[in-house]
Amino acid sequence: MKTIDELLAAGVEGKRVFVRADLNVPLDGTTITDDGRIRAVQPTVAKLAEAGARVIVASHLGRPKGAPDPAFSLAPAAARLGELLGTEVAFATDTVGESATATVAALTDGQVAVVENLRFNAGETSKDDAERGAFADQLASLADVYVGDGFGAVHRKHASVFDLPARLPHFAGYLIATEVGVLKKLTSDVKRPYAVVLGGAKVSDKLGVIDHLLEKADRILVGGGMVYTFLKAQGHEIGISLLQEDQVPVVQEYLKRADERGVEFVLPVDVLVAPEFPDLKTKAPAHPTVVAHDAMPADQQGLDIGPETRKLYAAKLADAATVFWNGPMGVFEHPDYAEGTRAVAQALVDSPAFSVVGGGDSAAAVRILGFDENAFGHISTGGGASLEYLEGKSLPGLAALEN
Ligand code: 3PG
Repeated sequence: MKTIDELLAAGVEGKRVFVRADLNVPLDGTTITDDGRIRAVQPTVAKLAEAGARVIVASHLGRPKGAPDPAFSLAPAAARLGELLGTEVAFATDTVGESATATVAALTDGQVAVVENLRFNAGETSKDDAERGAFADQLASLADVYVGDGFGAVHRKHASVFDLPARLPHFAGYLIATEVGVLKKLTSDVKRPYAVVLGGAKVSDKLGVIDHLLEKADRILVGGGMVYTFLKAQGHEIGISLLQEDQVPVVQEYLKRADERGVEFVLPVDVLVAPEFPDLKTKAPAHPTVVAHDAMPADQQGLDIGPETRKLYAAKLADAATVFWNGPMGVFEHPDYAEGTRAVAQALVDSPAFSVVGGGDSAAAVRILGFDENAFGHISTGGGASLEYLEGKSLPGLAALEN
């Protein structure tokens, strides 16, 4: 994979450089609630601009349906990128139309523009190669060089991720180079004990990675909404907790395989329950109760791991040499259910282990709960992308940069 350093060494002055970023940040209206992904791509954009390139930054945001939708505009992200760079960033109100063409034509050396959400165009995510290719042709006409730096989207076979690099000289940006370097450490020469913490709502999103980790990890700690499917698989009453009934046999099979292979599955010994899901807008007190994992009332739902489990998980992480964490332990957005996620984050901060926080919600949780990002080995910007990398899948956006 050629990196941006090679591009910079060859010189980029006056060249139109298309940077495929992942500016898919969480928004509350037009307010960005976590700008981690924008900060993560800033060094690549800054370096190119300093070197005199005319930088065109493109990204998706959310999942609009192939047509413009103001709720998914990249305008707030463009404004934030400008603040971080300390310079004015131009914004095109379309992706490959009149506004984009005029905005790119008006760029002078060292200037940066952001074009509107790639997914406002049906060709970006199309399953049809020709439709995607036609959109990639339009994108290619805007630029002379491609820099791939949207790590969070490299698992998507989308026009700007997969088809566009084939049409332009292409290089990996600093973020992709860093992310791949870190994840390689987890797949090749991992230092043991290797502990993995998995959370999040659905066990079905994690099947591939659990399958892979059963061959690699020494310990797998489970929390979040998916843990109730595990408790059910062990034969416990889980009340009205989140359950993926169809996954129960799969989970039973995993528990059996883990046993055979000597991989330790660590499940909660207690949980926080309440009759209702908390109100995340008002954050009104939820008054949860602590119950043992095998004594969940039939009319209540589990919303976080309990205090004994927090201690247990911290102990199971304390002597690990490597930790990968993906997914919160509970509904951390509500203060009454944030302690499980906080305890895992704190355990990683306290441990000398090389710790990787795998993108998405867990990365946002670390920042929202006020942890210093530098206290972790690496915070990935890719949720799905880092999981698929760990599964050993070929990722379209990385394969395209390698060719
Ligand atoms: C993410 O948030 O994981 C990436 O930005 C990819 O988004 P997507 O799942 O909508 O493709």
